[in-house]
Amino acid sequence: MMKGVILAGGLGTRLMPCTKVTNKHLLPVYNKPMIYYPLNTLVKAGIEDIMIVTGGNYAGDFLRLLGNGSEFGLKDISYTYQEGEGGIAHALKLAENFADEEKVVVMLGDNIIKDDISDAVEEFEKQQEGARIFLKDVPDPERFGVAEIQDGRVINIEEKPEKPLTNYAVIGIYMYDNSVFEIINSLKPSERGELEITDVNNEYIRRGTMTYSIIKGWWTDAGTFDSLYRASKLVAEYGL
Ligand code: DAU
Repeated sequence: MMKGVILAGGLGTRLMPCTKVTNKHLLPVYNKPMIYYPLNTLVKAGIEDIMIVTGGNYAGDFLRLLGNGSEFGLKDISYTYQEGEGGIAHALKLAENFADEEKVVVMLGDNIIKDDISDAVEEFEKQQEGARIFLKDVPDPERFGVAEIQDGRVINIEEKPEKPLTNYAVIGIYMYDNSVFEIINSLKPSERGELEITDVNNEYIRRGTMTYSIIKGWWTDAGTFDSLYRASKLVAEYGL
């Protein structure tokens, strides 16, 4: 059975001063704390075993807010703690024992998506090995990882390119087989000093085992004041 990991570490410096006294993922997006959205997305997709990776000074508040997950129909929730802000891949590495050789679906705690991802999860259950990502056609690809596609395959991902080659943003939901942890071990920190999830994805592309889906409904991140506002407006207008 596939496991779920929600990454909710990092210091949220782009949302200062709001993140001075709480974790970014506990801030409201319209009428719910941000973390509710990725949690609901995974639960809707049938993922029952979920770990939250958090960090910073307010990690205890996740327990207070989410408890054992019964409100979401879960039997329990696992938690772990990321020291510092070593990047998305660094945070994911902390879920290695939890993954216990199974495949994982990883979701960034500040990503909010309208689509139900159940079908893609089901397809990935059948995929023998490798990884699967989701792409979304966006007007501002330079803010994201950007995928280049050739003959129906992703051939490269560039992290926040100045001159994006396509409009396909790689959204913050990733499905991996267990080799992801071996790949993370081989990474070197990027220029911004982080272990980059884009480097993990490019390694799967190099191995020829990366597949993708293009999502239809709306999607947004919520890590800046503009995107946080946009996220609240989307939820208020279209519901979630
Ligand atoms: O939103 C999708 C984008 O997310 C992708 O298109 C990019 O390829 C990917 O690198 C990422 O971009 P950001 O630079 O916007 O990611 P950010 O640093 O905002 O981190 C996103 C979430 O990941 C954050 O809400 C919590 C988690 N995280 C991040 C870091 C740096 C951690 O748990 N630990 C960390 O050390």
